[in-house]
Amino acid sequence: MENLNIYNPVKIHFGGGLIGEAGKIAKKYSDTALIVTGKNSMQKSGTLGKLVKILKDAGVAPIIFDGITPNPTINEIDSAAGIAKEKKAGLIIGLGGGSPLDSAKAVAVAAKGNIPVWSYLKTPAEEALPVITIVSTSGTGSEVNRYSVMTNPETGEKPGFGYECMYPKEAIIDPEIMLSMPPYVTAATGFDVFVHAFEAFTGKAKNAFSSAYCMQVFYLLKDNLVKAYDEPDNIEARGNMALASALAGLAIDISGVGIIHAMEHPVSGNYPNVAHGAGLAALTIESMKYNLESCKRDFMLIAHHFGIKRAGKSEDEYAAALIEKIQGILAALNLNIGLKDLGVEKSKLAKIAGEAFTTMGFAVQNNPAEAGEKEVLKLLEASY
Ligand code: NZQ
Ligand code: MN
Repeated sequence: MENLNIYNPVKIHFGGGLIGEAGKIAKKYSDTALIVTGKNSMQKSGTLGKLVKILKDAGVAPIIFDGITPNPTINEIDSAAGIAKEKKAGLIIGLGGGSPLDSAKAVAVAAKGNIPVWSYLKTPAEEALPVITIVSTSGTGSEVNRYSVMTNPETGEKPGFGYECMYPKEAIIDPEIMLSMPPYVTAATGFDVFVHAFEAFTGKAKNAFSSAYCMQVFYLLKDNLVKAYDEPDNIEARGNMALASALAGLAIDISGVGIIHAMEHPVSGNYPNVAHGAGLAALTIESMKYNLESCKRDFMLIAHHFGIKRAGKSEDEYAAALIEKIQGILAALNLNIGLKDLGVEKSKLAKIAGEAFTTMGFAVQNNPAEAGEKEVLKLLEASY
């Protein structure tokens, strides 16, 4: 029997219109909040304006930092942390997709110290400002976990980090905010949810707690991933994808990710225009084939949760049917792509393979099948 330590302190508020509670929730932590958000989407949908009003009505003074780009850089995070310090913000509110939420957590750490945020990869953070997440994609799961992913634009490195003090205090998951996601964002972020559950469910660090979350995620994805893409106004499908995102976020908080994420981070780190979920889409099928023999029973269980009938199939056929199913989902999401389609240069594959180990080594370790740099390079070439 293995020993387990399971801990997640995030208070989760899920429901349509719940952004209305943000003022009351924020007020518990501070009278001054720095909103960390992106450059366009939350302004355009009116969500940022709404949040500002809700905070003011509750007596919380909002300061806006709206300079976070997708695949956020350390420069953006350090700038926001400087503003948080200067304005003496007592609370950080992340508003947006994984990029602003990850940034909010990193800002919360950097605003407490006197070193650049990159230094926290080596220097563990003991304290951070309180963080509230208001999520607009589904997604990364960042709304409910402690992880933050940041890019060093000079080197292309894109590591993740996460200390206990970085858990958001509270997460507001309001599916109405997600209705404005354009199809490509819905597809890419939705596919990210699958890869989280897949890697947490098959990884070496899997356990009963994360697996319980993952199984519910597979059920939710089965009926809602393609539906949310095909029917963008379907609030039921949006809500179920939001639940799946959070559950998968809890699963990776417990059991981590694997080789698909290890390879994707250097892809979008070196090519910041690549959406994380699209990078994953390009890498998933070859990685699933690579892992199949190491965790065939898990593949069969996932196939079952996706509603694939066993009906006379051998174990090998049933496990392989999952890969076909995922290929079909990728096609339905218009994400049947290779790294080449994303603008990745072949000459960069060796650098990407190296960074999978130097920046995401723990994820390679967690992968069910052993892989060295040679194998990872082969996978990248096959995914090209
Ligand atoms: O940048 P803005 O103007 O806000 O627009 C964004 C961006 O262009 C737009 N968008 C977001 N919500 C929207 C919307 N547009 C219309 N309506 C909405 N409701 O979508 C684009 C992508 O946003 P982004 O936040 O970058 O996407 P995502 O949620 O996929 O986050 C990706 C980042 O999270 C990291 C990734 O590496 C990447 O940096 N991850 C974080 C994880 C974690 N904390 O656990 C785990 C993941 O594996 C992942 O690595
Ligand atoms: Mn991911």
